[in-house]
Amino acid sequence: MEFTRQDFPERFLFGVATSAYQIEGHGFGGAGQTHWDTFAATPGNVVNGENGALACDHYHRMDEDLDLVAAGNFDVYRFSTSWARVMPEGRGTVNQRGLDFYDRLVDGLLERGLKPALTLYHWELPSPLADEGGWRNRAMGDWFADYVDVVARRLGDRIWSAAPINEPWCVAWLSHFEGHHAPGLRDIRAAARAMHHVLLSHGRAIEVMRGHGMTNLGAVCNFEYAQPVDDSPAAHRAAETYDAIYNRFFLGGLFRGTYPEAALDGLAPYLPVRWDEDFSSIGQPLDWLGLNYYTRKVIGPTGGAWPGYAYLDGPLPKTDMGWEIYPEGLTHFLRLAQDHAQGLPLYVTENGMAAPGLRDEDRLAYINAHLARVRSAIAEGLPVAGYYLWSLLDNYEWALGYDKRFGLVHVDFDTLVRTPKLSYEKLKLALAKS
Ligand code: FCB
Repeated sequence: MEFTRQDFPERFLFGVATSAYQIEGHGFGGAGQTHWDTFAATPGNVVNGENGALACDHYHRMDEDLDLVAAGNFDVYRFSTSWARVMPEGRGTVNQRGLDFYDRLVDGLLERGLKPALTLYHWELPSPLADEGGWRNRAMGDWFADYVDVVARRLGDRIWSAAPINEPWCVAWLSHFEGHHAPGLRDIRAAARAMHHVLLSHGRAIEVMRGHGMTNLGAVCNFEYAQPVDDSPAAHRAAETYDAIYNRFFLGGLFRGTYPEAALDGLAPYLPVRWDEDFSSIGQPLDWLGLNYYTRKVIGPTGGAWPGYAYLDGPLPKTDMGWEIYPEGLTHFLRLAQDHAQGLPLYVTENGMAAPGLRDEDRLAYINAHLARVRSAIAEGLPVAGYYLWSLLDNYEWALGYDKRFGLVHVDFDTLVRTPKLSYEKLKLALAKS
């Protein structure tokens, strides 16, 4: 590593992130069916038709995995609770075994001196709620609030930080407009409603958690730099539209009480009635903002219907996901985040790359390059307070199944044996507390 912990401010936190459906093994412990199970069961949606039924079997190997977090010298473990594990029908009956599992997880973190950073929704929506329209339905706000209430009552006293929803853009746009993630819709009205209801549900969840006296509450958004393919006005307009939908819509809702014009140009006719009256609920005061950052997109105009942009192949070196490596974008988004969040602590809540192999020099280079950006952001006065790697383990990479390996620790998906990669060993040395 080109850095050690000592190169960062004394209270700066390093973490690793995972999510429930991607590692736990959803087939165990009385968890209910989710829209990811049925999306994966539908041919053509997921590489090899793979699902999260077994995943990394973290449900049975939690202690070993938490030992890896602690031995890696991390400070924070960012994880999610699965709605369908806690409430198999999405509403009503609570699966006590599910709550017990998360209770043991939180205690296991605290016993190891790790800070539990909770996410309440990382994408596996209970199927009965999907049947009722899922994120298209405004009632999601109430259903989500009820689930958050159950989790907050049980875990809230021991959680270090919490964010309601991981990556609103993926939940709404990627899943309801591009159709790449569950529920696999390609419908502008569905997408517009999901974008708004995700934020509404975020606000409701913050209120519920505050009501239980929980502190250190934030939001986690993802960002991709929009690079116009050339200098033409049309390419710039296309990139601006992409940027508005991807990067500015959710920040606008959370911090400015409005959505960007370039997004409203296409979405306004499809938003729910009186959407503009919801911002007092959406804009609950927050304690921090989390950024998930991986890449940029090269954008060109299609000449077709709104949003009128296309993703083009870019010239930069790419990860195993085909994502261009563009650390400069992290600087850009830390500044954009500061413009909106106005001094709130900023955390890089996900960053990392898919790469094969155990001697993952390329992953080390990626991490070094992005940490250099974090350091320069701190030097220019931006309030960056932590950096978390995606991910602890190789895991279920959604529509790409088990092929794409983001872990610092290798998982053999036949034997489920965990093997730390070079990046894990190097980070462990760099993060040692002197
Ligand atoms: C993010 C997701 C995470 C993982 C990484 C690679 O968008 O939050 O679950 O899939 O990308």
